[in-house]
Amino acid sequence: MSKPQGFCTLGIETSCDETAVSILREETEILANHVYSQADLHARFGGVIPEVASRNHLRKLPYLVRDTLDQVKLGPKDLSLVAATYGPGLVGPLLVGLSYGKAYACGAGIPFIGVNHLEGHVFAHRLSGDSPPPPFMALIVSGGHTSLVDVHAYGEYNVIGATVDDAAGEALDKIGKMIGIGYPAGAEIDRLADSGDPERIPLPRPMESSPGFDFSFSGLKTAVLYHLRKHPNERPADIAASTLASVVDVLTKKSIEAARRFHRNALIVVGGVAANRHLRDRLTADGAHRGINVLFPELSFCTDNAAMIAAAGAFRHLRMEESHSLDLIAQPSLSL
Ligand code: KG4
Ligand code: ZN
Repeated sequence: MSKPQGFCTLGIETSCDETAVSILREETEILANHVYSQADLHARFGGVIPEVASRNHLRKLPYLVRDTLDQVKLGPKDLSLVAATYGPGLVGPLLVGLSYGKAYACGAGIPFIGVNHLEGHVFAHRLSGDSPPPPFMALIVSGGHTSLVDVHAYGEYNVIGATVDDAAGEALDKIGKMIGIGYPAGAEIDRLADSGDPERIPLPRPMESSPGFDFSFSGLKTAVLYHLRKHPNERPADIAASTLASVVDVLTKKSIEAARRFHRNALIVVGGVAANRHLRDRLTADGAHRGINVLFPELSFCTDNAAMIAAAGAFRHLRMEESHSLDLIAQPSLSL
């Protein structure tokens, strides 16, 4: 029997260092969306320490769930579904959100569904009002992933390319560390690049001209390291601008080509690096030139959040009649 406030999903995301909770009504109406970033806790280590992340999810999650429900004046009895990320990601952090989500669903007597984090990123796009329905090409570009996915329909994916080593955001974070920017470095590199010269340092465009749609960003990181050894006084702004020029060139060329090759006239760009202004401007301009509509979610839905997890879970439950039993395990290497 449907509840008076409609079908409400509690979404939980803990795959990395963001503790995130959301309440979604039906498939796309966000009632509440809270993200507690642990970035400050990890900044002094220059990256995410899995055990520190797990402990802090454990500490923060119960209060975040309680406060989020209080904010919208709902209780466990008003919920219809719990959706929590079960992979890919760091196993300890995943286990916290997954175990909490399963226990919450069990206690409330409602179904539970585990959500693939990458599918969640694709659904971030569906939360933006003007999103066209599939089919479309999707570029998922974050700290953990860089993949091109042909989305035939929600729930039907064909991964046509992925990074063979580092993700684009991971490379930006590591290069940021080399020039003294704290973790995560992407947003600061984005800002610094405005005052730098993108042509100052001749950096490689890894795999730009290789056949297929795979990426590689590890060599770019090494190229910056070697350059800095020879030129220790290089301006951070020039490093930032030259690095971004390389990342943006490769991502733009491969994504637009993928959309063309698979006859998709829309490309959606999701994940933390989709917040990058240089990438947004370039992809939008090149897409327009080639007749491809390039779309980005609102900034708050680019980086990790639980609204996208709730949206993917609600869709799968309502449209595909899916749910998971309580023995679902965390899958750190889950693919789409
Ligand atoms: O999607 P996300 O929050 O987490 C993962 O699933 O990995 O992405 C985080 C990544 C980090 O590497 C961060 O440096 C990067 O997104 N990032 C950016 C920007 N904002 C966040 N990279 C470039 N430009 C930005 N404005
Ligand atoms: Zn993510």
